[in-house]
Parts: sequence; structure tokens; C-alpha cells
Amino acid sequence: PFSKHPLSHQGVVSSGTRSVPFSPSKGQRKMRRIIAENPNWSLVVVPSLSSMCLQSIVNNFEEKQIFEQLTPGQRDFIQEGLSPTLPLRVTANLIPDGVYWKRCCERRWDLCDVSRYGHSWRRMFFERHLENLIELFIPEVTEPKAVLDVLPFCKSYVRRLNVSQLLPPIKEPQGEKDGEENDLDLAIDSEHDEACAHHFDFGLVLRELTHLEELALVYRVKECGMNFEWKMFEMTKRDCESLAKALNVTFLQLFRLHQSNVEDKKCRLLVKHLLDHPSLRELDLSHNLIGNGGARAIGKLLARSKLEVLNVCDNKIGELGAKAIARALSRNSTLSSLNLRLNLVRDEGGAAIGEALRSNTTLHHLNLGGNDMTWRAASALSDVLIENKTLRSINLSCNNLGKVGGKALAEAMSHNTTLTELNVLLTEVDEQNASFVSEVVCANQRSEHKKQRKTGSIKYP
Ligand SMILES: *[C@@H]1O[C@H](CO)[C@@H](O)[C@H](O)[C@H]1NC(C)=O
Ligand SMILES: *[C@@H]1O[C@H](CO)[C@@H](O)[C@H](O)[C@H]1NC(C)=O
Ligand SMILES: *[C@@H]1O[C@H](CO)[C@@H](O)[C@H](O)[C@H]1NC(C)=O
Ligand SMILES: *[C@@H]1O[C@H](CO)[C@@H](O)[C@H](O)[C@H]1NC(C)=O
Ligand SMILES: *[C@@H]1O[C@H](CO)[C@@H](O)[C@H](O)[C@H]1NC(C)=O
Ligand SMILES: *[C@@H]1O[C@H](CO)[C@@H](O)[C@H](O)[C@H]1NC(C)=O
Ligand SMILES: *[C@@H]1O[C@H](CO)[C@@H](O)[C@H](O)[C@H]1NC(C)=O
Ligand SMILES: *[C@@H]1O[C@H](CO)[C@@H](O)[C@H](O)[C@H]1NC(C)=O
Ligand SMILES: *[C@@H]1O[C@H](CO)[C@@H](O)[C@H](O)[C@H]1NC(C)=O
Repeated sequence: PFSKHPLSHQGVVSSGTRSVPFSPSKGQRKMRRIIAENPNWSLVVVPSLSSMCLQSIVNNFEEKQIFEQLTPGQRDFIQEGLSPTLPLRVTANLIPDGVYWKRCCERRWDLCDVSRYGHSWRRMFFERHLENLIELFIPEVTEPKAVLDVLPFCKSYVRRLNVSQLLPPIKEPQGEKDGEENDLDLAIDSEHDEACAHHFDFGLVLRELTHLEELALVYRVKECGMNFEWKMFEMTKRDCESLAKALNVTFLQLFRLHQSNVEDKKCRLLVKHLLDHPSLRELDLSHNLIGNGGARAIGKLLARSKLEVLNVCDNKIGELGAKAIARALSRNSTLSSLNLRLNLVRDEGGAAIGEALRSNTTLHHLNLGGNDMTWRAASALSDVLIENKTLRSINLSCNNLGKVGGKALAEAMSHNTTLTELNVLLTEVDEQNASFVSEVVCANQRSEHKKQRKTGSIKYP
């Protein structure tokens, strides 16, 4: 084995632990230089030429990309070694989904749940990268180029955009004034400020993102601290106009705009641009200020779209708005879930929706919690429950249904229905009736499970 040692002909033989000087001939006692021993030395330590080449490719990847002509094993080596800070123009379309993008993600974010991104690390990287750019975009300060430049690389991978903050422009300092004067100014200037406090323009981005399926936005500033102002938590008219115009993204399936002070006018504008959308399935406008006018527009949308899930929880929809939605429901809607929780639907609205359910609807889930309804609405809904239709769950919690309403509901449930969930918490319903309702609901659930097991189509345990 010694003969293989590259240094052995120079007179030093390594046994792996120490060096032995070579004995010179005929007493010529000439001291030779001793090379310090390296107890760790072995042939394995010497890199092969090919791995040196690969390392060189890794080191110079930015200037010259050699990737596609390599073997799969060599590509793995490159993906393990490449720097995660390489510019996207180099890596975006060249490096396939996998280790490299995983390293990029884990370097930037502590929590990386790839299952939420269709198990694609590359998709996670680009979606979150774009979200971060938009969330930190300061109008009139940040160059739009900063966002536009990454779009060509992102656009094939971004399916969902979940923007959790949108910054308003930085206000110019108003000069040095007394506190008192400032207060006056604020009142006068507020009109003017509103006119120029526009956020990021989604028109720039959505046009490019041709694969976008889900868009969730909220106009608010996170961790604003002492700079708090109500203005930070609403979209302006111009924001709404530019967003609405951009909404005809071909593959959009889910649109969510919550907690953004959307009132009737803005709601109408958004809905106008969503009419006849080819793919929209889910619309979430919860926690806004939508009233009857907005609800009427939404009713129109129900008739002219393929909407399946509508969430308008925590708005200001009253009787008239509920009637408009009910009318749409009874006609030609594809809706399967309707959430009207925390509105002002009251008895008339509740009864109208009940009436709509008599006709051939597709509705499975209905939430009317916290709507100031009484026994009148409860008995109207009870009448519908007796004629068992497609409805699976109703949530009536936090309404003052009272004993009369409870009795009507219990009576309806005693005619075995298809309901597997009926929430009557905090409704002043008689305890005896409430427990009867929950008994029937449980029985329905059990028979439902049995049916599903028989047909082998059980989806949940
Ligand atoms: C030999 O390896 C050990 C552990 O891997 C390391 O601590 C030590 O520094 C190495 N010695 C030399 C001369 O490289
Ligand atoms: C959007 O992000 C927020 C947190 O930033 C999260 O709570 C929410 O579930 C996300 N929504 C979607 C649809 O991923
Ligand atoms: C969206 O609408 C604009 C104008 O309203 C139009 O130019 C554009 O082609 C539309 N895009 C799609 C994908 O329909
Ligand atoms: C009902 O919807 C279908 C398809 O969505 C459409 O073709 C039909 O015209 C609609 N009918 C009415 C009365 O709106
Ligand atoms: C309800 O819809 C089903 C299938 O969509 C249809 O067969 C039935 O005739 C409809 N009934 C009424 C009363 O419209
Ligand atoms: C029913 O509504 C109440 C509030 O009104 C809510 O707390 C509860 O989670 C809802 N239940 C279901 C099953 O949606
Ligand atoms: C409801 O159905 C259960 C079992 O499916 C049956 O035992 C019970 O008698 C039924 N009750 C009424 C009121 O039809
Ligand atoms: C309603 O339920 C009863 C009892 O379970 C059943 O006999 C009847 O066929 C159901 N009607 C419809 C329209 O599903
Ligand atoms: C509902 O409660 C009342 C008492 O408040 C009772 O007389 C009635 O039988 C109950 N109905 C059902 C179906 O449990």
C-alpha cells in the first residue's frame, strides 16, 4: 500500500501515523527535510478532478450556467452547493423544484410548511417572495420596478397571493406647528389626504400573473404602533378602481378582501368586474361595511357566476339585502355555502332566505348567527326543514329565538331531516328542546356515516 503514496519516492513513507526518514546510501548522512505528518491523510481526502470541476461550476454559476448537460447525480451536487443568494434571473427557470429551493426558503423563513404550497418549494419561494415585496412596498418611495422586475420569473409559479399588509404612502411632514393648530388642520386636510393616500396598484401585477388562482388581500398596516391612524385600515376609491379592473384574472378561483372598510360603492364596483367570471368559486368579503346596496350587487353576482362559497360575515346587510340574496338563491345559483353571520338580517331577511330554500337550491351550509332574529324567523325556517332538501347544516347561534322558536325547531327536527348540524347555542331555546335537537342531529350524523360507508364514499373519519 505504501507504494501508492504520492510522496514515497521522495523518501518519506507515511504509515498514517508517522513519517520515516529514508536511509541514505554509503554513510552520506545528509539530513532530509521531514514533511510534517498529517494523521488524517488518506486518499479519500484528495478530491477527484470531476468534483473539483463541479465545485468550480458551483463557484462560477452566476457567470456561466452549466447544468442541463450534467448527469442527475452531478445536478444534485450543484443544487446542494449553489448559493441561495444567486440572482433569480439565473436560477428561476433553470434550477428545478427541490433541494435548492428548499434551502432558499429555509434560509429566509423560520416556518416552512410546504404542504400548503402543493408540496412545491419553488412555488413557496416565489409566492412568499412576491408577497414580501408587495407587503413592504411604500407607494411613491419604492420603485415599482422592484416588483415588476421579478414578475417574469414568478409568473409561472405563483398560484396564490396572500397579502397581509399594504402600506400607505408616507405623509409629508406638516411643518412645525402647535398641537392645537394641528388638530384643526387634520379636520380640514382629511379630504385632501384621502385623495392621495393610495396603496400598491395591483393592476401592475395581476395582469402578469396568468396562473393566479387565489388572491387574499387586506388593506391594513401590521404593527403600526404609535403611528396608528384609521386611514391605515381602508382602501381608497382609486385603490378599489385599479383592483377591480385587474380582477379578470382568467384562472382566479378565490377572492378574499376582508377588514378593509369596503362599503356599498366599492362592493358594487368590485362585483361589476367579477360578473360572468369564468372560474370564480369562492368570494370572501367578511368584516367590511357592506350594506343593502352591496348585497343587491352580490345577489346579481350569484345569478351571473359559478360562485359556490360566499362569506359576507360581519357586515351591515339588512332585511332588503338579505331578500336580494334570497331571490338570487331561489333562482339559478350554484351556491353551496352562505355565511351571513353578524349582519342585521332580522326576521324578514331570515324568512326570505328560508322561503328561497324551498325551491331547488344547492345550498348545503347556512350561517345566520348573530342576526337579531326571533321566533318568527325560526318558525319560517322550521317549515322549510320539514320538507327535507339539500341543507346539511344551519347555524342560528346568538339570536333571540326564545321558547317558541325552539319548540318550532324541535318539532321540525322530529320529522327526520337531512340536517347533520343545527347550532342553537345562546338562543334562549328551552333546554329540553335544545337537547332533543342535538339528539336528532347526532342520529342523522350516524345514519349519514352509515350511508357513506355503504357506498364507500366516506371522506372524513
Ligand atoms: C484531523 O481531524 C481532526 C478531526 O476531524 C481535526 O480536529 C484535526 O485538526 C485534523 N488534523 C489535521 C492536521 O488536519
Ligand atoms: C394568509 O395569511 C395569514 C397570515 O398571514 C393566514 O392566517 C391565512 O390563513 C392565510 N390565508 C390563506 C388563504 O393562506
Ligand atoms: C381584462 O380586462 C382588460 C380591460 O378591461 C382587458 O384588456 C384584458 O384583456 C382582460 N384580461 C383578461 C384575462 O380577460
Ligand atoms: C341558469 O344557469 C345556466 C348555466 O349557468 C344558464 O345557461 C341559464 O340561462 C340560467 N337561467 C336563468 C333563468 O338565469
Ligand atoms: C330540481 O332540480 C332537479 C335536478 O337539478 C330537477 O330534476 C328537478 O326537476 C328540479 N325540481 C324543481 C321543483 O325545480
Ligand atoms: C356558529 O356561529 C357561532 C357564532 O355565531 C360560532 O361561534 C360557531 O363557531 C358557529 N358554528 C359553526 C359550526 O359554524
Ligand atoms: C327517525 O329515524 C330513526 C332512525 O332512522 C327512527 O328510529 C325514528 O323513529 C325516526 N323518527 C321519526 C320521528 O321519524
Ligand atoms: C324526507 O324525509 C322522510 C323521512 O326520512 C322521507 O321519507 C322523505 O322521502 C324525505 N323527502 C325528501 C323529499 O327527501
Ligand atoms: C319543547 O319544549 C316544550 C317545553 O318548553 C315541550 O312541551 C315540548 O314537548 C318540546 N318539544 C320537543 C319536540 O322536544
